[in-house]
Amino acid sequence: IRVAVVFGGRSSEHAISCVTAANVLQAIDRDKYEVIPIGISTSGHWVLESGDTEHLSITDGKLPEVDVTALPVLFGSNRELVVNDPGSVPSTLGEVDVVFPLLHGPWGEDGTIQGLLEMTDIRYVGSGVLASAVGMDKHFMKIVFQAAGLAVTPYVVVRGTQVDRAAVAALGYPVFVKPARGGSSLGITKVDGPDELDEAITAAQVHDPKVLIEAAATNPREIEVAVLQGLNGARPEASVCGEITVSGGGHEFYDFETKYLPEGDDFAALSIPAELPDEVAAQIREQSVLAFEAIEGEGLARVDFFLEPDGRVVINEINTMPGFTPKSMFPLLWNASGLDYPALVDRLLTLAMT
Ligand code: DAL
Ligand code: MG
Repeated sequence: IRVAVVFGGRSSEHAISCVTAANVLQAIDRDKYEVIPIGISTSGHWVLESGDTEHLSITDGKLPEVDVTALPVLFGSNRELVVNDPGSVPSTLGEVDVVFPLLHGPWGEDGTIQGLLEMTDIRYVGSGVLASAVGMDKHFMKIVFQAAGLAVTPYVVVRGTQVDRAAVAALGYPVFVKPARGGSSLGITKVDGPDELDEAITAAQVHDPKVLIEAAATNPREIEVAVLQGLNGARPEASVCGEITVSGGGHEFYDFETKYLPEGDDFAALSIPAELPDEVAAQIREQSVLAFEAIEGEGLARVDFFLEPDGRVVINEINTMPGFTPKSMFPLLWNASGLDYPALVDRLLTLAMT
């Protein structure tokens, strides 16, 4: 079975996608799968990567990047991968059975590559066009979740320079200011009062002209659940719950540094499984499946929740291509639920092909 693992990409999560890919490349069963590593550079060029995982890892705090000087490739018709080098005779690298689009953020997790793969009739891991697009946009995902009866955080949408300041004040401070279509906490600021609002909106708009301002007043617990599509049409499965606790070092939330960088380990702790009463864990796991079904997700997702001090469960967001780095919740949650990393990758590829 020939698998094209696609990673990198044009979004600000390029480096995290590389780290994710390094781990997946190491975990794929090479007796069963022939792997073709394809990088997308930050400029959007597709290349045949070496598959060397060392240069795809975070070393000495330096974030990895796709090697843009490698051989240019693209998907042609008939599921064929072809060399796309203007200086050379066009040549085929053969047919691909399935693509693992390990891309995070816009131009990858948002339905765009999914649309390209639909057009070329190639099977791929994960959600389709609509679910990916809805799962990328923190505004539209809330609308879909609410329609499915899930509780969401109160929010205000900002487009351009028009800010409904009265509506923001009504949320109560602090608030979180987030790019609508971002990831890995990039461009997110916790804002303690109206004076800091404009600066935070500008920071978020570096990533997306559409910005969400969300209520954050109650200091909730942060609980995440990993979801997998069921096999043979069975209902989606939820992993155990995991909890993230962030404190110290000036980190006010689970930001980029605490998520991925070694020094962040001092300030973010993951508890897997989360210490929760059974009925609360069951409720959150059931809601994660409902969220996956609400967007019509396929393959996989990680669903993030807030557990409010009064016991209310509020959904924060869904990620249709969550990180698979060594510090990422998605593989850790499945590992604790009885599915190790190689088995998880095999399951995802199997789902994509059936
Ligand atoms: N957006 C990052 C990769 C995550 O959700 O894990
Ligand atoms: Mg996200």
